[in-house]
Amino acid sequence: MYRTNTCGELRLTDAGKKVTLAGWVQRVRKMGGMTFVDLRDRYGLTQIVFNIENDASLTEEANHLGREYVIQVTGTVAERTSKNPHLPTGDIEIIAEALKVLNPSEVPPFTIEDESDGGDDLRMRYRYLDLRRNPVRRNLELRHRMTMEVRRYLDGKGFLEIETPMLVGSTPEGARDFVVPSRMNPGQFYALPQSPQTLKQLLMVSGIDRYFQIVKCFRDEDLRADRQPEFTQIDCEMSYVEQDDIISLFEGMAKHLFKELRGVELTEPFIRMPWADAMKYYGSDKPDMRFDMRFVELMDVLKGHGFSVFDNAEYIGGICAKGAASYTRKQIDELTDFVKRPQIGAKGMVYARVEADGHVKSSVDKFYTQEVLQDLKKAMNAEPGDLILILSGEDTMRTRKQLCELRLEMGRRLGLRDKNKFACLWVVDFPMFEWSEEEQRLMAMHHPFTHPKDEDIALLDTDPAAVRADAYDMVVNGVEVGGGSIRIHDSALQAKMFEILGFTPEKAQEQFGFLMNAFKFGAPPHGGLAYGLDRWVSLFAGLDSIRDCIAFPKNNSGRDVMLDAPAALDQKQLDELQLEIVKPAE
Ligand code: AMO
Repeated sequence: MYRTNTCGELRLTDAGKKVTLAGWVQRVRKMGGMTFVDLRDRYGLTQIVFNIENDASLTEEANHLGREYVIQVTGTVAERTSKNPHLPTGDIEIIAEALKVLNPSEVPPFTIEDESDGGDDLRMRYRYLDLRRNPVRRNLELRHRMTMEVRRYLDGKGFLEIETPMLVGSTPEGARDFVVPSRMNPGQFYALPQSPQTLKQLLMVSGIDRYFQIVKCFRDEDLRADRQPEFTQIDCEMSYVEQDDIISLFEGMAKHLFKELRGVELTEPFIRMPWADAMKYYGSDKPDMRFDMRFVELMDVLKGHGFSVFDNAEYIGGICAKGAASYTRKQIDELTDFVKRPQIGAKGMVYARVEADGHVKSSVDKFYTQEVLQDLKKAMNAEPGDLILILSGEDTMRTRKQLCELRLEMGRRLGLRDKNKFACLWVVDFPMFEWSEEEQRLMAMHHPFTHPKDEDIALLDTDPAAVRADAYDMVVNGVEVGGGSIRIHDSALQAKMFEILGFTPEKAQEQFGFLMNAFKFGAPPHGGLAYGLDRWVSLFAGLDSIRDCIAFPKNNSGRDVMLDAPAALDQKQLDELQLEIVKPAE
């Protein structure tokens, strides 16, 4: 037997027991005739003591142990004289009687402790060592517990877990595909699924009724903290349901996860916010509702007083930062610099402080009388001690997005974005389409299989841009953690949708004929949703990036620096696949 116990389980009640432990040497400390070894495994850390007076040669052997050696130790559990209250095993130590080196280790490239001295790149290159560290491993444990709870919840609701293929066909909507050449079909390519969307709909046509899958999805898009090229969805679909049925079942699942994994009981129904309101009041389809600070439109109050920036603006919006009137000139300048960053792109920021006596002092006092500034205070619902921040612009949507960034920054500065506080909401009534400047055509905002709202179907012919969809996203703390919709189950409506999206009937048939044909054989009304597993885990773990809850993630350039992928192929492989690499012209 390699071990009788793990390094995390022995307590004072075990004193006197003879035990064998195995694990990694985290640290060796020599103090006089004693050598202390911190022995680590997945379960914890136990102190081993070698005493020259008990066994001089064994202690000498222990002195030669290096960091990350794999060892096996036999000894007796004893009460410590100086206890470590920060360690679950801190009341005891093992008085060593035998030691075996199972495998020595080279000096690791960084210290494998909770606080590591290794930079990001180095830790990614040696990710298997990084994963020995508690904070990283704990995230994987949380991820495991989450998938277990998801399976338990969905199984309890009658869902079947069904796998769908990873080698599928390329679809033109959505992000770019990752493609895989087929040796047996030279010149032809599979695509890796961006999501199992059409396949899960086909499972509904098959009568599966309630499907789920914890599934890898692949999207070749620009990476951010909450985006990886391969990520995992908790993908679900149900038949004979309406939007409310899906929302209530998956809100139930979210509440179940909060309770089981975070000990948070959410009793109230989640807010449902129409997309149009989310954009109007928060400038985002995923507002962070841990704090309000909603936008107030100020065109009526501030236009027409001779301040040309506002007079020429299509949109003027303000936020009220409670208690921030004490902000210094330097802090205000920082905020102005923040909104002027190229990635935000505002030209400037106007501020107004409400002083203790109710008087309003603004950065544009020369254009506005105190009377108008009092109107501003009233419109903003501001009180003495508050700071009003105002942005304006010629494009409403763009300015709202800038104000959204300012609101989030202000929320952060005021400590309103506490990671241990959770604000969940559904954003509903998304527009069916959005205009793509790049493609110069309407694109599906969710995907082309989304059902338009019944009351808006007539607008498909007259004003498609005004059509709203039976689509919904779940947002927690400003993160889109899931999204879904009721689907079209009628082949004629589906064909019409493709037509509006600019597909010729031939192209639609070529790309999606399998789905439209399936709809001719008794497709039940259906709908579903997919949660982003990585995002849920990072939210619960309080991580800034989803990378930290993925065992082997890609870096920001989409590379796996440990495996050194992607990489060039051998000529032999290229020949088999009948592929030729064309180098770009110098
Ligand atoms: P959608 O594209 O909204 O919907 O994706 C569902 C959820 O998956 C997560 N997600 C991601 N997580 C990490 N990295 C990424 N690159 C990434 N992209 C998306 C998000 C998102 O809310 N088939 C539909 C679902 C449906 O309609 O049922 C779909 O894929 O949390």
